[in-house]
Amino acid sequence: MTGSTFLGMGHFVPPRVVTNNDLAVLMETTDEWITQRTGIKERHWVDGDVGASELAEHASRQALAEAGLEPKDIDLILFATLSPDLNFPGSACLLQARLGLPGVAAMDIRNQCTGFLYGLKTADAYIRSGLAKHVLVVGAEVHSTGLDVTTRGRDVAVLFGDGAGCAVVGPTDGESRVIDTELHADGRFAEILMVEAPASRLNPRLTAEMMEQGRHYPKMDGRSVFKHAVERLPEVIHSILKRNGYTLADVDVLVPHQANLRINEMVARQLGFPAEKIVNNIQKYGNTTAASIPMALHEAVQDGRVHKGNLVLLAGFGAGLTWGASLVRW
Ligand code: ACO
Repeated sequence: MTGSTFLGMGHFVPPRVVTNNDLAVLMETTDEWITQRTGIKERHWVDGDVGASELAEHASRQALAEAGLEPKDIDLILFATLSPDLNFPGSACLLQARLGLPGVAAMDIRNQCTGFLYGLKTADAYIRSGLAKHVLVVGAEVHSTGLDVTTRGRDVAVLFGDGAGCAVVGPTDGESRVIDTELHADGRFAEILMVEAPASRLNPRLTAEMMEQGRHYPKMDGRSVFKHAVERLPEVIHSILKRNGYTLADVDVLVPHQANLRINEMVARQLGFPAEKIVNNIQKYGNTTAASIPMALHEAVQDGRVHKGNLVLLAGFGAGLTWGASLVRW
C-alpha cells in the first residue's frame, strides 16, 4: 500500500550567533543560570528584517536538492510557525512566491512546537489518499524580533532561537515510510504559554499601554509547561509504540522537540531510554519551536546517527497545549 516517506531534508539558521554571555550584557542573567536550567549555550538570531519565510526558503531549497527535485515538483506547501512573517497572509503563501510556485496550494499550521508533526501527518494523509504527490513540510521561526530582551523578559528570552527545518515528503511502496503519527491538543491550558496581543479578541487589539506592560511579548508559566511536558511526552510515546506493535527497545533513535535539555533528560529517565539514542542540539540553537524537530532530525541524518532501516521516533510538545509523536522507518 502506498505510504509516504522523507525524500529529502534541509535546515538553516541565520549566521549571527548569540551566546549566553551576550545576553548577560542585555539583562540580568548568567551563562551558569541558563546552562544549568536549560542546557542552552548559544542560539542564532536574525540581523535586521528577516522573516520566517526567508529562513524557510534556504532550508526548502536544500531539501529539494537532497530529494533530487525541482520546486515545480511540489504540489502542496505546509508551513508550521508561531512567528509568521505577517499576521496575514500566512508564511506558506510567502514561501510559495519565493520558490516561484504560483497556483500551488499553500497552508499555514499554527501548532507551535508540535507544528512539524501536525504538518507531517497532514502530508502523509494527502499522499496516502492520492491528493498530493510531493509535499513540502516546513517548520520555521523568527523568535528574536518578538522577545523582551530586558530583565523583565529574561525567563523567556534566553530560551528561544531562530531557524528553519523542512522535509520533502513523497509517495512510496517501500519499507522506508512514515508508519504513524499521533496528535493531541488541550486548549484548556492555552494561557500557560502565549502571546496575548495584538489579538482579535481585544478591542483595540494593541495599545501603547499594553506595549508598556509588555503584553505583546510571550508569557510563560515555566513550571507548569515543564510539568505538562514531562507527563504528556512519555504518554504519547508509549501510546504510539503500543498501537503499532513496537516497544521502546525497538526504537533506534528518539528525536524530541528541543524545548529544554532538562525536559528531555527527565523524559528519558521516565522512559528508561538510553541517553545516547536521543538527538539533542538545543545547546547550539535554543528552542526553535516548529523548526526544532526537523533541524535535529536533519543534523542526525547528516552525521549518520539516523540511517536507512532505523526506527525513528519523533516527539513534540508545546503551546496550545499541543503534543504528538511520529514513528518513521528510515
Ligand atoms: N536568568 C537569571 N535568573 C532568572 C532568569 C534568567 N534568564 N529567568 C528567571 N530567573 C529567575 C527568576 O526571576 C526567579 O527569581 P526569584 O527566585 O528571585 O523569583 C529564579 O530565577 C527562579 O525562577 P524559576 O522560574 O523558579 O526557575 P525554574 O527553575 O523554574 O526554571 C525555566 C525556569 C527554565 C523556564 C523552567 O521553568 C523550565 O524549563 N520550564 C519549561 C519551559 C520551557 O522549556 N519552555 C520552552 C518553551 S515551551 C516548549 O517549547 C514546550
